[in-house]
Amino acid sequence: MVKKFAVVTLVLALMAFAGGCGGTEPEPVPEPEPTPGEATGLDGEEILNAKCGSCHSLDRVLAEDYDAVGWAAVIDEMIAKGAQLTDDEATALAEYLSLR
Ligand code: HEC
Repeated sequence: MVKKFAVVTLVLALMAFAGGCGGTEPEPVPEPEPTPGEATGLDGEEILNAKCGSCHSLDRVLAEDYDAVGWAAVIDEMIAKGAQLTDDEATALAEYLSLR
């Protein structure tokens, strides 16, 4: 009698255990969307205003529409012409300009 009770208890415990684990797989955590400035923590708009208006107007810059790679190439050209940007600033600015 005692033994049978123990077996039933064991079966119930196993069922509860299986039920508690089944179907409750944790959802995979989605990758967060990249947001402008995330890679470097720098504000592309500030960099644009600080670094790109001295030789020509900012309208000259904002009239163009490139992707991040295209902007990186333009910014490299501007650095060759004398613009003063660190690598991180160039990255953040290319990101900002391509996503604006
Ligand atoms: C040292 C001076 C100088 C600075 C600083 C400068 N530029 Fe220029 N930029 C030029 C010159 C000169 C031209 C004109 C080139 C030409 O007419 O071929 C130009 C032209 C441009 C053009 C239009 C031509 C093209 O290739 O599409 C863009 C876009 C541009 N610059 C973006 C920028 C950005 C973005 C920055 C800030 C990182 C910047 N510039 C900072 C000198 C500068």
